This record gives sequence, C-alpha cells and structure tokens, in this order.
Amino acid sequence: MSGAEKVVCVTGASGYVASWLVKLLLQRGYTVKATVRDPNDPKKTQHLLALDGAKERLHLLKAELLEEGCFDSIVDGCHGVFHTASPVIFSAADPQAEIIDPAIKGTLNVLKSCAKVPSIKRVVMTASVASVLYNGKPLTPDVVVDETWFSDARFCKENKLWYMASKTLAEEAAWRFAEDNMINLVVLNPGFVIGPLLQPALNSTSDIILALTKGLLMFEMLHMHIFKHLRSLQLLADIA
Ligand SMILES: NC(=O)c1ccc[n+]([C@@H]2O[C@H](COP(=O)([O-])OP(=O)(O)OC[C@H]3O[C@@H](n4cnc5c(N)ncnc54)[C@H](OP(=O)(O)O)[C@@H]3O)[C@@H](O)[C@H]2O)c1
Repeated sequence: MSGAEKVVCVTGASGYVASWLVKLLLQRGYTVKATVRDPNDPKKTQHLLALDGAKERLHLLKAELLEEGCFDSIVDGCHGVFHTASPVIFSAADPQAEIIDPAIKGTLNVLKSCAKVPSIKRVVMTASVASVLYNGKPLTPDVVVDETWFSDARFCKENKLWYMASKTLAEEAAWRFAEDNMINLVVLNPGFVIGPLLQPALNSTSDIILALTKGLLMFEMLHMHIFKHLRSLQLLADIA
C-alpha cells in the first residue's frame, strides 16, 4: 500500500526494529512521526535523519513512555501508530521499575493517546514470542505452539524472566484496553529478529548473536527458541 499523504507514528524509533520500520515506511511515501527519548542525541537519531525521504517526511519527536499524555500531540493527525518502544533488557536492579512498568504503563499511555484520535485506523504493537512461550508447559519437539498459547506472567516473575513478564503483561493490557476502547489493534509476536543494524550501537538481541559467534554464550543457554529473519519486518510495514 502506498503511504502518499498518510502520517504514521513509530514509537521507540531509534531502536533496532523501529529504525528498519521507519526506513520502510519512508520508502513507501509515509510521513513518519518518530518518537525518541532524546532528539538531540546524534547516536540515536543520525541514522534516521540520513534515511532516504527523511529530510522531507521524517519528524523526530521527544517522548518518554512513562510521561503520561506525552503521546497526545504526537499521534494527533496520524493514520496509524506502530508501538515498538519497550525496554529490551533482561535484568535490572529493579525489574518492576525498569522493565515491567515502562512496558505496561508505556503501552497504555500510547493507547490512551490513540483512543482520543479518530483519524487513527490501526495500532500495530510489537509484542514478542516472549509473551507466548513462557508458561511452564514443556517445549519438546512434538509440541505445537499456536494461538492458544500465552505466557504466564506469574510463572515468568517466579523464574525471574523479567522481559518475558513485561511483554506478557503489556500485551494483555493492550488487548484489554483496545477492546474496551474499540481500537483496531494488531499485535505481532516476532521471534528473535536478526539481520543488519541501521543504528550505530548494538541492541540487546544483536548483542546475544555477537556473544554466540564469539563463543561467550552457548545456544542451549538461550531462553529464546525461535529465529526469524529481519525480512519479516517487511510484514510489519505492510500492516500500515
Ligand atoms: N529484537 C528482537 O529480536 C525482538 C523480538 C521480538 C519482539 N521485539 C520487540 O520489538 C520492539 C523493539 O525491539 P528492538 O530489538 O528494536 O529493541 P531496541 O533496539 O532496544 O529498541 C527499543 C526502543 O524502545 C525505546 N525505549 C525503551 N524504554 C523506553 C522508555 N522508557 N521511553 C521511551 N522509549 C523507550 C528505546 O529507546 P532508547 O534507544 O532511548 O533506549 C529504543 O528506541 C520491542 O517492543 C521488543 O520487545 C524485539
């Protein structure tokens, strides 16, 4: 679909997945309102500003997931919103405050802003296979994981799988809010996304791949079970 004259928002635009998404959306003619925590940090923005079409159609806007209402003016006038911003870290001194709260409250913050804007036709959220696989059921080769699977946040917390808990609770909250507020929500549950980086610094999942190639980490130590190629991001942009 061509995005000519259509405006979309991408949250967490400096991130690995979102940078590709912004690139693909610009390529398709969309005007992109891209949120970053610090629009003045070149390490987070230079690669976005260098994209084809950025000069004409990319707007970098400051947004912090936990700042209530800060997405109101950003999503205003948008046709679609891609919500990717979420802490992608696997441990923290205070997992609730640093991983779980920003994921859940941030998602609701974005969705609350979207609910006020009738021009928004669809919200696309990157959940994760992390919100699917972690429920304590055995993952033997004969097991088929399908749409009936959902991670169990309590199981995740008991096992200190903080990122998995954050994605599970954020997705659950998103579905509830979208249903209550008649938001057309699409949730994607990607596996491990790998491929070339647009941003200058390693993101967490690319760091894991690097650790595997350097022998610093063994595959069996990974909690992740599914690998998908970066080309699946094409699918993400297709949903616009
Ligand atoms: N990579 C994968 O394999 C994979 C697989 C499945 C799902 N996903 C999901 O895809 C999305 C993007 O992942 P990614 O790998 O691209 O991660 P990433 O590179 O770490 O990007 C995450 C983005 O979220 C932003 N963010 C984090 N906390 C924030 C906060 N409190 N306020 C505002 N922005 C905040 C980060 O901003 P800063 O740059 O300022 O920190 C960054 O731009 C996430 O929702 C993740 O759960 C990723």
